[in-house]
Amino acid sequence: MQIKQYIPKPIKRILQYSYDGWFDLVDFVLGRRHPMVPARRHTFIGRGDFIADGNAFRETLVQLTGLTPDQRVLDIGSGQGRMSLPLTDFLSKEGAYTGLEIVKSGVDWCEQAYGDYANFTFIHADVFNSYYNPGGQYQSADYPFPFPDDEFDVMFLASVFTHMHPGDVAHYLDEISRCLKPGGRCLASLFLLGDESRAAITRGESSVAFRFPVDEFSLSATELDPENAIAIDEGFIRSALEKSGLRIEGEIHRGSWSTNLPAMSLQDVVVVTV
Ligand SMILES: C[S@@+](CC[C@H](N)C(=O)[O-])C[C@H]1O[C@@H](n2cnc3c(N)ncnc32)[C@H](O)[C@@H]1O
Repeated sequence: MQIKQYIPKPIKRILQYSYDGWFDLVDFVLGRRHPMVPARRHTFIGRGDFIADGNAFRETLVQLTGLTPDQRVLDIGSGQGRMSLPLTDFLSKEGAYTGLEIVKSGVDWCEQAYGDYANFTFIHADVFNSYYNPGGQYQSADYPFPFPDDEFDVMFLASVFTHMHPGDVAHYLDEISRCLKPGGRCLASLFLLGDESRAAITRGESSVAFRFPVDEFSLSATELDPENAIAIDEGFIRSALEKSGLRIEGEIHRGSWSTNLPAMSLQDVVVVTV
């Protein structure tokens, strides 16, 4: 049983902040924090090695989408720039990166950190998410992406659909389809509920315990704050993709969360094209 989820959020934040503060102090004294990596106590995108995780993701992105240096890339749910940092020495001056993020402090951080990179732009989308942006003005399902049709060669969502409800994901897929250039590709990491992953959850063998039903098509790992971690029915995703005019390219790369086998990533990885 995960006791952590029952600790009130403000208390959890204070505990985490003080714990991380000590490590930040050590990093500061030793001068070892990269200027484009946020301090640990201000990090909201999850734990792990910010730089190593970003580099590994870039490898996967390039391998699976065929991203080239002169293309236009959209990072949906760009957080604090973990996946943009390794693109700074990949994209050429002809290429361009746009990050779309619902947490204003994340956008502010990136705007300041990427001030020297003219082809990197960060946009705030004031979209509601009970976990990340509880004061958000718009619902995901009503939010039109602020871009014209056929704008991007490559898009990606790294651990973003893992915080969204199925209906909201379906709307995002419509917007992705609209904003992708013909032949463009979008990579998303997510938790897919199929026969095998559901069986692993039931046996208690999945590394993320999705035990709490959210709606007909999704389960959460946290009872009190479902948007902290959501897994979505694979059939729902397949039919939403079809409705939005997107199709899966190649195989679905099953994540280690449900198989416990060596994998490309903890989460399942899907590449779609229009
Ligand atoms: C686990 S973090 C991952 C951040 C970033 N993609 C990375 O891998 O470093 C999840 C991110 O999704 C963002 N997010 C949640 N709901 C969103 C939505 N409806 N639209 C765009 N971003 C969203 C959160 O604000 C957060 O930055």
